[in-house]
Amino acid sequence: MSDISHRYQALKLEIQHHNHCYYVLDNPEISDAQYDALMQELLQIEASNPEFVTSDSPSQRVGDKPSGGFQTVTHAVPMLSLDNAFSNEDLTDFNKRLQERFNHIEPFSYVAEPKMDGLAISIRFEQGVFVQAVTRGDGVQGEDVTANVKTLKSLPLKLSGGEIPAVLEVRGEIFLSKKRFEQINAKQLEKGDKTFANPRNAAAGTLRQLDPKIVAQRQLNLYLYGWGEVSSDWQMPENYFEVLTQFAKWGLPTNPDMKLVTGVKGLTDYYDDLLERRERLAYEIDGIVYKLNNIALQQQAGFTARAPRWAIARKFPAQEVWTELLGIDIQVGRTGALTPVARLEPVEVAGVVVSNATLHNLDEIRRKDVRVGDTVIVRRAGDVIPEVAGVVMAQRKDELPEFSMPTTCPVCDSEVFKELDKAVYRCSGGLFCPAQAKRALEHFVSRKAMDIDGLGKQLVERLCDLEWIRHPNDIYRLHARKADLLSLDRMGEKSVDNLLSSIESSKQTTLARFIYSLGIPEVGEVTAKSLAQHFKTIDGIQAASIEELVAINDVGEVVAGHVQAFFQQPHNLEVINDLVNQGVHWPAIEEVAPLAESESVFAGKIVVVTGTLTFGSRDRAKEILTRLGAKVTGSISAKTDYLLAGEKAGSKKTKAESLGVQILTEQDFLEMVGEIDG
Ligand code: IVH
Repeated sequence: MSDISHRYQALKLEIQHHNHCYYVLDNPEISDAQYDALMQELLQIEASNPEFVTSDSPSQRVGDKPSGGFQTVTHAVPMLSLDNAFSNEDLTDFNKRLQERFNHIEPFSYVAEPKMDGLAISIRFEQGVFVQAVTRGDGVQGEDVTANVKTLKSLPLKLSGGEIPAVLEVRGEIFLSKKRFEQINAKQLEKGDKTFANPRNAAAGTLRQLDPKIVAQRQLNLYLYGWGEVSSDWQMPENYFEVLTQFAKWGLPTNPDMKLVTGVKGLTDYYDDLLERRERLAYEIDGIVYKLNNIALQQQAGFTARAPRWAIARKFPAQEVWTELLGIDIQVGRTGALTPVARLEPVEVAGVVVSNATLHNLDEIRRKDVRVGDTVIVRRAGDVIPEVAGVVMAQRKDELPEFSMPTTCPVCDSEVFKELDKAVYRCSGGLFCPAQAKRALEHFVSRKAMDIDGLGKQLVERLCDLEWIRHPNDIYRLHARKADLLSLDRMGEKSVDNLLSSIESSKQTTLARFIYSLGIPEVGEVTAKSLAQHFKTIDGIQAASIEELVAINDVGEVVAGHVQAFFQQPHNLEVINDLVNQGVHWPAIEEVAPLAESESVFAGKIVVVTGTLTFGSRDRAKEILTRLGAKVTGSISAKTDYLLAGEKAGSKKTKAESLGVQILTEQDFLEMVGEIDG
């Protein structure tokens, strides 16, 4: 046997093995990208050596035989797969192949659809009534999951409208929204059960449930994009897009994000647009599917053994990749919490190189059984920080030791204690711990706290390491170190002057900002504001009892405990006194008389603020609105009363228009506010 034939046979076996792991065991041993690479190699060998191809080649079939547990059903029309495109060039080739096949000069019209990351399903209606749902299985035979699919709220059990064929098999994708996936995992955590690595796994696990009640709770979702057996009484429309429109008329769910596009430019523009919107979509997608719109041409183009010639899947960069866990580092946060962080063999995830990922806490590490040396699944979805979603157990070859939290702080060596009833481990060093001191300083100078421009994270780090600053009050003595500051790398006269002047101007602040800047655990901006409004002075807060604290809106016992503990520490009082002595000050808080509800046009109204305002910041507008009794929310819905839209208002304005929500210009708003004030 030649080398190439050897390689081919090996590839065949390897891919067959991975099909079994993925489709039957729900337990893949290699990542999707690795699988795609094997498949591409096999297809290339077959393209140059057509004589190798036999009917058992993975290129001639999809998936693997069903696993049992459910009745096996043979599909009347096989459920095929799709060929993949990985670049614009691949798309150009795809289009060219079709143009040439049909000797077509004009650009083709295609339907572009999100490629849902879920499971393919075939759903059969007889006389318009739902009778059966079958998984794809190996494409030839699947599993009867009728009872489970019946629980899907978006699936009509009886079709509505007219011209319904006697037999209609519709095909599509079952999936879980990102939101439901998060909720399900949170629930799994609560119960102490294993979490799902991604929405697809969660959907697959759910569809295989033997108890339809559990399936119903999980709230699977469905979009339909194709058909199988259909009786001859169907007046099939000319174009694919019209078929989907017909589906919608029958009450079947279709994807609202699909679009009719023209030519290669249409294909690539849609790709750019959807990739940009990917994070904001309610569901996870792994690419785009393009289909020739004209059904007669689809039929003429036909199929290879595995996939239609008239469609192609353009893959997105993977949001989930596999890599080696090199170590687990411990980060010490502002309040001393120790966070385990995965140190990874660097990999690209959704277009960004990742070398660290959060492991959350020890409980999470135990539950996922993550060990140094493992191959781990790293996910970066949305703007969330990359996380280790799970371990590829099949890749763990040797015994690996379990991870345990250190008993002393890796930065200051102080004892580590575990918070009662919580998964959090904390360094007991307080501000003695350089890591905690640094984080506290970073917080103190941050924009929403004392807002000291020019004192970024790196400079804080340097000044701490030089021991020029340790506590917030040290910052206000930096002016005496001007010569030292000038001696630092990249610190010229101008930047030192700017730094010192922004330190100086930060002295004029508000009580709420000051309280927030102290970094009391769990006292965020809102709580700091409430404390300031209620007690009006630092002394007042310091003297407050737990009962008095708890009486304030949004202060519970835990927060009250933190506030009291903070002000009981002599060291903290020293720092506060010194800050005040050095000139940190704020205007006295006056009693704000809440307007009588009836006086304000905004009383009880739900308002959203968007765009750029010229009279002041959006926060300022929100403050005014809140004072006038409005409820300010972040997103537009039918319940919204007003949208205050400044310059460059984008999607929120469009949505408000479509929902008929009243839109206020800045001018309108100021006039309305003026009327009340005047
Ligand atoms: S069309 C014969 N359209 O992707 C054409 N498939 O890699 C069959 N998928 O098995 C597929 N979204 O599970 C099509 N809008 C979409 C899709 C889609 C997701 C899945 C489907 C299919 C797999 C092929």
